[in-house]
Amino acid sequence: MSNTDSDSSTSTRSPLIGAIVAQVLGAVVSVLLFVFIMPEILAYPVLAGLIQGASASMMSYRLHAPRWWQAIHLAFPPLAVLGHSLALPPMVWLIAFALVLLIFWRTDQSRVPLYLTNATTAGALAQLIPSGPRYVLDIGCGDGGLLRRLARSRPDCEFVGIEHAPLTWLWARVLSSSLSNVHIRLGDFWKQPLAAYDLVYAFLSPTPMPALWLKVREEMRPGCLLVSNSFAVPDQNPLNIIEVADKRQSQLYCYRPGD
Ligand SMILES: C[S@@+](CC[C@H](N)C(=O)[O-])C[C@H]1O[C@@H](n2cnc3c(N)ncnc32)[C@H](O)[C@@H]1O
Repeated sequence: MSNTDSDSSTSTRSPLIGAIVAQVLGAVVSVLLFVFIMPEILAYPVLAGLIQGASASMMSYRLHAPRWWQAIHLAFPPLAVLGHSLALPPMVWLIAFALVLLIFWRTDQSRVPLYLTNATTAGALAQLIPSGPRYVLDIGCGDGGLLRRLARSRPDCEFVGIEHAPLTWLWARVLSSSLSNVHIRLGDFWKQPLAAYDLVYAFLSPTPMPALWLKVREEMRPGCLLVSNSFAVPDQNPLNIIEVADKRQSQLYCYRPGD
């Protein structure tokens, strides 16, 4: 197996395992608390949930999980209690789970959530596409909005987007169907050869960047450009960094991996 295959694209273990461990350890603490110190709290299920959340959050902190996991641990048990009290048909929860899965897919494995490139950044990226007919690839294209913006400004170029989340891919495909120079594909970008592209755009997360660098070094042609929104390749000097004048002060890291 090559080191750019999807298994090696995520260097750390799934955060779900850490989350389960934190909740289980938190449950041990809160059950001891409920049984031996304050049994009366069980008459107030939301409060009991909040105590379980706080214990799990503390465990998550001790396990060195990223800070935002602590907020999730704190909120999850009381929200679960509240959700249960709504007495909704189980099918509602199943449908909600299926929708989340189809939109976000295996974020726990890819470590790349869904967020979208804004119009200002798309404008800055358009300036980086060399003149003449070019092939541009967005690895993990989300709703395809970025590609549609680029395609309208550069009708002489072909824009390909690859997306693995089924519903997100379908949404991108439907919205892009009127543009003949946008091609949205369902699949895993780790399996997508990159040699055909003049510019590869990535808006991912810090986790896949080292493996992405190995892939682009192996596959991209000399003179072609990798542009990464917000996430630099560790230990590599970019050719340049474009400071985008948007609200979040995005940075576009530009590399020539094939040179
Ligand atoms: C941060 S979003 C960026 C969306 C789009 N490129 C943009 O800039 O508006 C990253 C997207 O990559 C997708 N993704 C993550 N890992 C992927 C993989 N291995 N193959 C294909 N898509 C992937 C996610 O589902 C998500 O839609």
